[in-house]
Amino acid sequence: RIRRRELECRYDIDDMTPLFLAIYRSLIPAEEEKEKQKQLLVSLRKLVNKEWPDAELHLYGSCANSFDVSNSDIDICLAIDDSKMSKSEILLKLADILESDNLQNVQALTRARVPIVKMMDPVTGISCDICINNLLAVANTKLLRDYAQIDERLRQLAFIVKHWAKSRGVNETYRGTLSSYAYVLMCIHFLQQRKPAILPCLQEMEATYLANVDGVQCAYFDQVDRIRHFGAQNNESIARLLWGFFHYWAYCHDYANDVISVRAGRNISKQLKDWTRRIGNDRHLICIEDPFETSHDLGRVVDKYSIKILREEFERAADVLQYDSNPSVTLFEPYVP
Ligand code: CTP
Ligand code: MG
Repeated sequence: RIRRRELECRYDIDDMTPLFLAIYRSLIPAEEEKEKQKQLLVSLRKLVNKEWPDAELHLYGSCANSFDVSNSDIDICLAIDDSKMSKSEILLKLADILESDNLQNVQALTRARVPIVKMMDPVTGISCDICINNLLAVANTKLLRDYAQIDERLRQLAFIVKHWAKSRGVNETYRGTLSSYAYVLMCIHFLQQRKPAILPCLQEMEATYLANVDGVQCAYFDQVDRIRHFGAQNNESIARLLWGFFHYWAYCHDYANDVISVRAGRNISKQLKDWTRRIGNDRHLICIEDPFETSHDLGRVVDKYSIKILREEFERAADVLQYDSNPSVTLFEPYVP
């Protein structure tokens, strides 16, 4: 297949920035919604601590990493000393506790890859997933939140990319496309590569945050208040970055040889990670290294069918931004099979 590869984006790309910023603003959750999430967390803490006084509840995922759009579900991690009970027993007990407090649709999914209890709070209408002792997710949530505070273009880009992925049906890991978490890492990586760079590589800087989480060393520079001007040398607009992002994944990324690594702040080779062939279910057709669990490829869910869909969607998005007369509408047109 011949790929069109424009080297430059259209001359009037910057004029589209106000339209994309308006979309970004419309996706930000209202203050009241964040307030309701906090209230729900407070009442869940009370409930859980009655049974387990030493247990802690942590928010993680998009509602805690600042990449949440309005009406998102919330992700909660129950941190508990589980030496006496198995994970399944804890989940079932938790489900009992929630049900007897009138929370709705309570379901314990003990056999899922990440076992959780799902439920809905009828007072706030918020749905939530609670997992047990997934502290690496809590740590990577902090890393993403810290990156978001360095340059606001990250949050803008990631919101628009997430909105695009949901509209186009390519944000469904159970169908072989990518998680929101993977898309945010792709955005961070992309902004680390701009010249001049818009984001630094926090894990290559002096470690001001150090934690051993489940045997994994998590270390990076987290005093982000001190580097707020990092990206100031680069004045690329959000519309131009959006084009650049899709253009990179459509026409420039070396799928055969490269792994994107936010940890290293650059691409690294598949060879180096031994991600060159299929092992079990890990096919490594698009490689996105987890910043802390570096043996984890977030692209492992992608198979030979979904990689084609993904790459066609990246091309479509790049072409829409290049040629369409109304890109801020066409980009998000729902995918109809
Ligand atoms: N996570 C992870 N490893 C994965 C997928 C997810 O550690 N392979 C963790 C991350 O901490 C992530 C959280 O689980 O922030 C929730 O993941 P996900 O549902 O992909 O994304 P959200 O950021 O919550 O996005 P959404 O708004 O779409 O729910
Ligand atoms: Mg979530």
